[in-house]
Amino acid sequence: MALAETAIGEASSVQALAEVRAGFLGKKGSVSAVLRTIGGLSGEERAAVGQAANQAKERIEAWAAARKRALESADRDREISEYKLDVTLPGHAPPRGHLHPTSQIEREMCAFFAELGYGIEDGPEVETDWNNFSGLNFPEDHPARDLQDTFFVPGGNVLRTHTSNVQIRAMTGRKPPFRFISPGRVYRHDLDGTHYPMFHQIEAVCVDEHVTFADLKGTLFAFARHLFGESTEMRFRAHFFPFTEPSAEIDISWGGRWLEWGGCGMIHPQVLLNCGIDPERYQGFAFGMGIDRTAMIRWDIPNIQLFFDGDVRTAEQF
Ligand code: DAH
Repeated sequence: MALAETAIGEASSVQALAEVRAGFLGKKGSVSAVLRTIGGLSGEERAAVGQAANQAKERIEAWAAARKRALESADRDREISEYKLDVTLPGHAPPRGHLHPTSQIEREMCAFFAELGYGIEDGPEVETDWNNFSGLNFPEDHPARDLQDTFFVPGGNVLRTHTSNVQIRAMTGRKPPFRFISPGRVYRHDLDGTHYPMFHQIEAVCVDEHVTFADLKGTLFAFARHLFGESTEMRFRAHFFPFTEPSAEIDISWGGRWLEWGGCGMIHPQVLLNCGIDPERYQGFAFGMGIDRTAMIRWDIPNIQLFFDGDVRTAEQF
């Protein structure tokens, strides 16, 4: 036994220990050999030898286990003390995110108007019929109220179809002069390469005593050139909106053709009245355009769905 205890104590690695242990307890080990002879012994001898051999086996197992723990912990200590941390090695840079192109262009648009003294107004995406339609002078049977375009919410509200709802919200009970913009999400029942059921618009409103269509035009030209460059070509096309009179659509020259950018006009006197503003004394202009559409023009992106499918490879390019 002393032999076993010494041999185990001297085993200098986990590997060597396993070999020493096998020398006693393995299939060909000496203790195992003794146990194999038991069958040939007389009854009395068998009990004595069997007991001694089993005792030896248990003690050897215990010594080996203790030695193994000691060796492993020594290994760990050595590993730790030998480990050299080189703080000058370059690290792994975590990938860095950035703003979605829609957010980038939205911020640019807001920054432009902030410089012109426009405030920012917010409005909800679930809106009343009054703020989205009736207050904006939409007749009861106007096609835009159709299920084809509008998402209705149980209880009579709608998902706002445009940011023009903020005109009613922000102008009601407010004393001119004022000017503001309002960016946000809008919803329409529409899906193809240039339309998506959720998209973003920005609305601009300016109300004062001597506001004219020329102010509207000057503001829009400055805005377009700021966003798309000094040589940007823009045109106004006569149009109809219930909440402006006169009204126009705004086109931008894009890849050799005219692309609709937004709508605009002089705020309809009825809309001013609906908000408690005297249309005899005050006039205003308003316009609204797609923010995603603006990003498409700016970066020559052919398909709006690329913006919303959540593929980071698209976003990484901007
Ligand atoms: N709300 C209109 C639309 O979604 C866009 C628009 C047109 C906004 C004329 C305006 C405006 O403020 O004056 O199509």
